[in-house]
Amino acid sequence: MRQQGENTRALGLPAEPAPPQRPLRAPVHRSTTYEFAASQDYADVLAGEAPGYSYARIDNPTATAFASAVAAMEGAGCDREVRGEAFASGMGAVSTTLLALTGAGAHVVASRSIYGNTYSLLDGLLRRFGVQTDFVDITDTEAVRAAVRPETAVVFTETLANPTMAVADLPGLAGIAEEAGAVLVVDSTFATPAVCRPLEHGAGVVVHSATKYIGGHSDATGGVAVGGAGPMAEVRSARIDLGPCLAPDEAYMLHRGLETLPLRVARQCASAAAFAAAVAEHPAVERVDYPGLADHPGHALAGRLFDEGRYGAVVTVTPRGGREAGMEFADALGTATIAASLGGTHTLAGHVGSTTHRQMSDAALQAAGIGPAAVRFSIGLEEPDDLVADALAALDAGAGR
Ligand SMILES: Cc1ncc(COP(=O)(O)O)c(C=O)c1O
Repeated sequence: MRQQGENTRALGLPAEPAPPQRPLRAPVHRSTTYEFAASQDYADVLAGEAPGYSYARIDNPTATAFASAVAAMEGAGCDREVRGEAFASGMGAVSTTLLALTGAGAHVVASRSIYGNTYSLLDGLLRRFGVQTDFVDITDTEAVRAAVRPETAVVFTETLANPTMAVADLPGLAGIAEEAGAVLVVDSTFATPAVCRPLEHGAGVVVHSATKYIGGHSDATGGVAVGGAGPMAEVRSARIDLGPCLAPDEAYMLHRGLETLPLRVARQCASAAAFAAAVAEHPAVERVDYPGLADHPGHALAGRLFDEGRYGAVVTVTPRGGREAGMEFADALGTATIAASLGGTHTLAGHVGSTTHRQMSDAALQAAGIGPAAVRFSIGLEEPDDLVADALAALDAGAGR
């Protein structure tokens, strides 16, 4: 029998594509392409007439496993079938979903308090393509109703607003969207399915920056969108055309993070509640925004929409004084780290006015319900007593000056 040359032999395909026993962990499938026995099989998979994989941007088993696992969590209480699509980042999920569900002449009603890049996408790029957005106070249901037009295609909100932690009335918004023939799209990054599952409250699509709580360890970037078959067929098609697919190594990391999401988030919520209550008592503190506190405007609504005793793990502390007082407070922290992002194992803090909301003047911040001194904490997995002691010491240092 003719022996093939060494380069051909070196290129041999795996003899055993899948082990006979199912591995406990979803493997990382790095291959960008897949072998078919016949041209017709290849054509059938591409046409969606046979299950399977052909090319990594279209589908990758590791990313599919991750998206399906998030869909199982977000859709747990839904009586309809839900599907997930994974993305290279949270903005990949947000932008693809918005592009998929709108088009020239379409209108969006969006919360005024949304992530900065979502805001600039709606207010900049999408306007250039003929999609008009009205930004409203999403907690004012009448304002949302008044903003809706016949051409409204999407109502967009975040479950918990950054950094005020305002709680969106998801069933109320879903009702308005449904009457208008629009899809309610909810960015639930701050809540996670371990706190609230917007699809159970009438949302059409829920999106996440998986970079935050879902990954949970500040070491992988990704996003995910989950919803019913109708809107998700549009989202999937746009994802394939636009290309922000999740890389297999990142998908593996995010899927691993998801396994401990409920455990981490339950602990982070409990620590955040203890932290918020203790810090609110300090005389140098003007206010603490946390929906777990009885005086937060969204407390009762959160009690109805969120899982019992879970109010998220972001706490915004506003010391008395202006921007400087806020920056000094953040700088005096030791256990909490000054850093961007949220949702990881480490407690992160940031002065809002000079970082995430730096484009806003003091007056604009006040109008949005944000004090110029506000410092946002993403509570991690440290001992809550250590976090409280750290914040109180930093407040003491400021009050003594
Ligand atoms: C609420 C929210 N949505 C979306 C994003 C964008 O996610 P990513 O950075 O993974 O693109 C972020 C990022 O901070 C966010 O906080």
